[in-house]
Amino acid sequence: MSGDMWDPAIYGRYADERSRPFFDLVARVDAERPRRVVDAGCGTGDLTAELARRWPRAEVHGFDSSPAMIAGAPAGGRLTFSVEDVARWCPRSPVDVIVSNAVLQWVPEHREVLRRWAGTLATDGWLAFQVPGNFGAPSHALVRELCRTKWRDRLADLVREAPVGDPAEYHDLLAGAGCQVDAWETTYLHVLTGEDTVLRWVSGTSLRPMLDRLTPEEAEDFLCDCAALLDEAYPRGPHGTLFPFRRIFVVAQKVISR
Ligand SMILES: C[S@@+](CC[C@H](N)C(=O)[O-])C[C@H]1O[C@@H](n2cnc3c(N)ncnc32)[C@H](O)[C@@H]1O
Repeated sequence: MSGDMWDPAIYGRYADERSRPFFDLVARVDAERPRRVVDAGCGTGDLTAELARRWPRAEVHGFDSSPAMIAGAPAGGRLTFSVEDVARWCPRSPVDVIVSNAVLQWVPEHREVLRRWAGTLATDGWLAFQVPGNFGAPSHALVRELCRTKWRDRLADLVREAPVGDPAEYHDLLAGAGCQVDAWETTYLHVLTGEDTVLRWVSGTSLRPMLDRLTPEEAEDFLCDCAALLDEAYPRGPHGTLFPFRRIFVVAQKVISR
């Protein structure tokens, strides 16, 4: 994989659908006057700016490992950004709110990261994250199958079976780290319009490692193979293409200092 596989223009195609879970997540964070808020894996920073609006007195910092994603982030005033890796980031002083939306599925050691973050929260601090829980859905299973068969020689090592846990697992992990935990799941039914909509969606996220590995010609062939399978699994109906998408949400508040 190259240093930066992300493309903000492609990721931004479904901005409304992708931002809804962020707002559903943050709505459950009951911090009144946090001083330090961090958005871990902030992407373009547009949603980080929403955190600054939500908490008008807070210093809000977003970081992301992708220089391309963060390049146009709206820094200024209380809002700052940096290029950093979730796996290594550790705050120098306690943080009141850590938010991480649609990021930790990319971080294999994220359970360890969550324990570390819980340890760095201020007393009564909050940790809120959301990850996709749709790795068993056809949009992922069919692509995994392609990577293991026709594209085995080029892509087999990129297959990720189940990069995230269930709400109950995260509940127990963070309760064990001294937090009171609210964990749940939601399946959104996205209604997408146009041609190859599911392919266009996954091209911005789960296909990034494959597209980053392949030559442009190979990538074109691979996308054609994906399109054929995804069109069959998600047929276009009279009202659009229905794309169910399960997501896992965890909001934890530190109640015990360890
Ligand atoms: C699906 S996007 C979500 C971006 C943003 N949180 C949002 O909700 O719009 C995933 C982001 O995670 C970032 N990311 C992936 N692995 C990361 C890591 N190890 N450290 C920091 N950021 C990471 C990517 O660069 C990308 O911007």
